[in-house]
Amino acid sequence: MPSISNKGRNMPESPIRKLVPFAEAAVKKGKKIYQLNIGQPDIETPKAALDAVKNNDIDVLSYSHSAGFVSYRTKLAKYYHKNDIPVDAEDIIITTGGSEALLFAMGSITDPGDEVIIPEPFYANYNGFATASGVDIVPIKGSIEDNFSLPAISEFEKLITNKTKAILLCNPGNPTGYLYTRDEIQQLADLAIKHDLFIVADEVYREFAYDGVKHHSIMSIPGLDQNAIMVDSVSKRYSMCGARIGCLVSKNKEVMIAAMKFAQARLSPPTFAQIAAEAALDTPDEYFEEVNKEYTERRNLLIEGLEQIPGVKVAKPKGAFYCIAELPIENADKFAQWLLEDFQYNGETVMVAPANGFYSTPNTGMNQVRIAYVLKKENLEKAIEILKIALEEYNK
Ligand SMILES: Cc1ncc(COP(=O)(O)O)c(C=O)c1O
Repeated sequence: MPSISNKGRNMPESPIRKLVPFAEAAVKKGKKIYQLNIGQPDIETPKAALDAVKNNDIDVLSYSHSAGFVSYRTKLAKYYHKNDIPVDAEDIIITTGGSEALLFAMGSITDPGDEVIIPEPFYANYNGFATASGVDIVPIKGSIEDNFSLPAISEFEKLITNKTKAILLCNPGNPTGYLYTRDEIQQLADLAIKHDLFIVADEVYREFAYDGVKHHSIMSIPGLDQNAIMVDSVSKRYSMCGARIGCLVSKNKEVMIAAMKFAQARLSPPTFAQIAAEAALDTPDEYFEEVNKEYTERRNLLIEGLEQIPGVKVAKPKGAFYCIAELPIENADKFAQWLLEDFQYNGETVMVAPANGFYSTPNTGMNQVRIAYVLKKENLEKAIEILKIALEEYNK
């Protein structure tokens, strides 16, 4: 029989999606599941975005430019300017989700065997993108005790070798909810310049910064034009995950030339979705104010609820809509599966993402889960109650 590649074999499963078959089986048995595992917001997509697609009278659904519609990129550049990100249309390549932008970034700046330093825990699919590109992730571990704040820069410096090509950041962080300060971003920028490294900043949660704290983009740091690459997406900003639109942004011309070749190879980003994303840019500020208020309340409810469960430790998120919680159990994989297969409370259960898939250091985060607060408050409240009862029963 012909054999598949080592790369194919080594591709990690998504810790967010790997329990789906157990969830499907539970639903078939009539169980209701509160999904805390996946970052699929329940917030409505702005109507303008949906209407732009509905009211369109396209005759031929054609390819677009490989970098995306110029009209969309021009309007997007205006949005960035408004957010202290001084970039132009030519610094942007529209991609099929932030996911493709991450792949293009890895493809453009790394060769197999190169190393990328990433604060850990990190968005689990970075493991998959790194495997696909043959890149070795060098993790730098944050700790739940100090809310996963940035490890000392000297610790980063210790990890730099002649194979290091980049530092990859997620700001605000998925799964930690950590929001980097201006000073932390500046320190990383100085380090990148000193050692000739790229900084790839995944800023897909830019709008989700709470408590009045400002988000600082990598692109707003002066003097970093040649080192900075930003990954962005409409998925979370406008609750448009299914549109599959994101972008890669850099002032570094060589990066853009390389990324453009990857973009040409896949022809173009989706046409209808670009129409929706372009229209979404007209979304009024009040939309974000309301969304921000809603997520702040959800976060507070979740964190307060979790803190009241005996034995649970939780890092307080300042942004995005996730948290890492340490549970009084040994193995979160087994517990998460048990929740779906063997547990129910009045016909209901919860689904969480085991956190070890968000680490690349083996056997780390084994007793942690990632929880997404993407449910309405009343459902979130029920989900916390169910988790509390489940933990009591599991530990009996
Ligand atoms: C940190 C982070 N980056 C990138 C993505 C990719 O998103 P998309 O491909 O939908 O834009 C996600 C999705 O959850 C994410 O959480």
